[in-house]
Amino acid sequence: MLRFILALSLIHSVIGQCNQNDRLIGDLCYTVSTSKQTPEESEGICLVSGRYLAVIHTSIQANFLATLVKSQTGADKFWIGLHRVSGTSNFRWTDGTPMTWSNFDSSRVFQRAFYKSTARPTTVPPTTVPTTRPQVTRSPTTGKCFDNQDIEIQGECYKFVPLKLTFEDARKWCHYQNPVTASYLAYVPNQTVDKSLAAYARSEFETDDGNFWIGLSRSSGSSWKWDNGFPVGFTNFGTRTGQNYAAESIVNGKWDTFNDEEKNFFVCSYNPVSPQT
Ligand SMILES: *[C@@H]1O[C@H](CO)[C@@H](O)[C@H](O)[C@H]1NC(C)=O
Repeated sequence: MLRFILALSLIHSVIGQCNQNDRLIGDLCYTVSTSKQTPEESEGICLVSGRYLAVIHTSIQANFLATLVKSQTGADKFWIGLHRVSGTSNFRWTDGTPMTWSNFDSSRVFQRAFYKSTARPTTVPPTTVPTTRPQVTRSPTTGKCFDNQDIEIQGECYKFVPLKLTFEDARKWCHYQNPVTASYLAYVPNQTVDKSLAAYARSEFETDDGNFWIGLSRSSGSSWKWDNGFPVGFTNFGTRTGQNYAAESIVNGKWDTFNDEEKNFFVCSYNPVSPQT
């Protein structure tokens, strides 16, 4: 709470100095880019618009940025403007300032830094934070899911499985082969969860297109059913209908239907409070 008040008052004292749509956090202005790029491309995009890749001076900025990026893109990793001065062990911010604040995962040696808000394995960082100048932090995992690689979305835990299987094999994997706990093919109760899954899938599966199985299917001629047995309320079907197995599009979160021979990545889900036994 104290942090929050402090940050708010900082914003208030210098408001009006950022470009429209930029967010002032502490002494720096930030804007979130939603496109997924290499660090070099990200830096180029920032420079073209008269900005630098995000510089971070304080933990408050870092925490606000993590929240901002998460809310705008669903991503929990993004490039920041910290790089190693070649041939040395020193890091520098892209605006030329030396590194005074940092939050490195001490087990990693790297050339380029990206901010990761949870303790999850390193994959291609999905997002860029260009800014007028400036940096980032690590928020604690909730620890609710049984595996810290699983992602909690609105009370349910989701495991992204980068294996291409048929719907029935994916379902069996979730039920019987998930090493963490028995689970279901993903339950998608509403739009919020739907959007988050598509956003996470982009980084977890390291692709910008394609579909992943969710736990919705029907027997020919009967109604749609969730794998976990919950009633079907929210649906988000796209244009590709007519088959019996639903897979969510990584591009727009819409559900396309496929037959029993199609192979896709998939997502399992379980409730950490009352898991399937
Ligand atoms: C979405 O569904 C989850 C799980 O049922 C629920 O906790 C959450 O409140 C729902 N969110 C919205 C915006 O309806």
